[in-house]
This record gives sequence, C-alpha cells and structure tokens, in this order.
Amino acid sequence: MEIDFWLQRWDNDEIGFHQQVINPYLMYFYGQKGPAVEQRDKLKVFVPLCGKSKDMLWLSQNGYKVFAVECSERAVKDFFEGNALNYRHAEKEEYALYQASDQTSMIEILQGDFFSLQQADLDGVTDIFDRASLIALPIELREKYAQKMAELQKPGIRSLLVTLTYDQSEMNGPPFSVSEEDVNKLYSDNFSIEKLCFKDIINDEPGFKDRGLSSLVETVYKLVRH
Ligand SMILES: C[S@@+](CC[C@H](N)C(=O)[O-])C[C@H]1O[C@@H](n2cnc3c(N)ncnc32)[C@H](O)[C@@H]1O
Repeated sequence: MEIDFWLQRWDNDEIGFHQQVINPYLMYFYGQKGPAVEQRDKLKVFVPLCGKSKDMLWLSQNGYKVFAVECSERAVKDFFEGNALNYRHAEKEEYALYQASDQTSMIEILQGDFFSLQQADLDGVTDIFDRASLIALPIELREKYAQKMAELQKPGIRSLLVTLTYDQSEMNGPPFSVSEEDVNKLYSDNFSIEKLCFKDIINDEPGFKDRGLSSLVETVYKLVRH
C-alpha cells in the first residue's frame, strides 16, 4: 500500500473512505468536551494522511489551527476548492505547501510523503487527529507509521486515534483491522494510552456488511507522547 496505490485510488475516484459528515468523536472530544473556544487558537491539530477530510474544515471553523499531510495533489486541491477556500501554493523542499490564504482559516497542508516529515514540520502542534490513517496501512507500514509518529512528536502531544476492529479473514483491507492489543504493541513504548469508547457499528455500515463483515467495532483512544 505504497503511495502509488493511493494516487491511483484518487485518480479513479475510489474514495469510499471520504465522509460527507464531520467525525462525531472529533466534534465530541474537541467540541462539546474540548477546550473553551477562546483557548483554541493556541492549539494546532495535525491531521496525518488527511485526504480531503471535512474534519479539517470543522477544526478550523471551531478555532483550531490545522496542519496536515497528504500525498495526493488531487485530494489537497479538492479540499480547498470543494470547500470554497482560497489558497496559496509554494514549493517546500520535497513537498508542495498549500495554505488557506483567508485570514480566518488557519489550514496548512503539505502535499507529499508522511514518512519524509521532520520533527520541525510539527512545530507548534499540540494535538493529532488520526481517523482512517493508521488503519489505512498494512501491518509493516503501520509499524513504520507508529515509529515515525513517536519520532515526530514532542512530549505532551495528544492524539485522538480512531480504529476499526473486525475479523480480518472476512475482508481484505484497507481499512485494516487494528485491535486493542495492536494499539498497545504499536504505541505503548512511547505513549500513554487511554481507551475512551467503543461501539459495534456494523448495522450503520451496509457497505461493510456487503463486503462480508459480521461485526465492526470502532474504538477511540487518547494517546499522549511521554
Ligand atoms: C483512507 S484515506 C483517509 C483520509 C482521511 N484521514 C479521512 O478521514 O478521510 C488515507 C489517505 O492517506 C493518503 N496517504 C497514504 N499514504 C500516504 C503517505 N505515505 N503520505 C501521505 N499521504 C498518504 C492517501 O492518499 C489517502 O488520502
């Protein structure tokens, strides 16, 4: 599941992972249960493997700064153009940097490979929202991703991680099944891990039922870098 696989998915419009609605866990933990609105401009949320997720728009409209990385140029342009956001574009080393040029939208997306990021790229990041990012990757890349996440983060950075768990013999990924044990193996050396909630969502996901799944548990974790 290297970058070419994803570029082809974007070219062919095979983006079933893209959601029209804002992630409910993001709205709950960063909205209702989140910091007061007047404190949010000090918080910068990193969205790895961001696609054209509307969650970035919600974060920005709710007072957070957003920094994201995505390999597909098409996804990045669709994000800005589809949400009627004006943007600037510049080359930044091996990346293309897209920035909302409107004063009220603090959104920056680096278009390029997540695995080439450096710790300095995450300067000012306080929080991370990982939905459909870790679970988009097969096991070998998940290990590399978790290792990279540990390298990139300064102590204290918080992540909200959303996973899916199902019987991997019933369906091929992506998304891949990631169990609680997997999360512990991937992150416990470098992060504290708190399981916030979980729910079997198979009855709300006819597409996954059609792909053969009998159960699909969504779990949300809070990770904090030691
Ligand atoms: C399953 S999608 C999830 C997108 C987004 N998180 C969401 O919730 O809609 C995974 C995304 O990761 C991007 N991607 C995959 N590997 C990448 C890499 N090494 N660097 C940057 N982006 C990558 C793909 O292009 C795709 O848009």
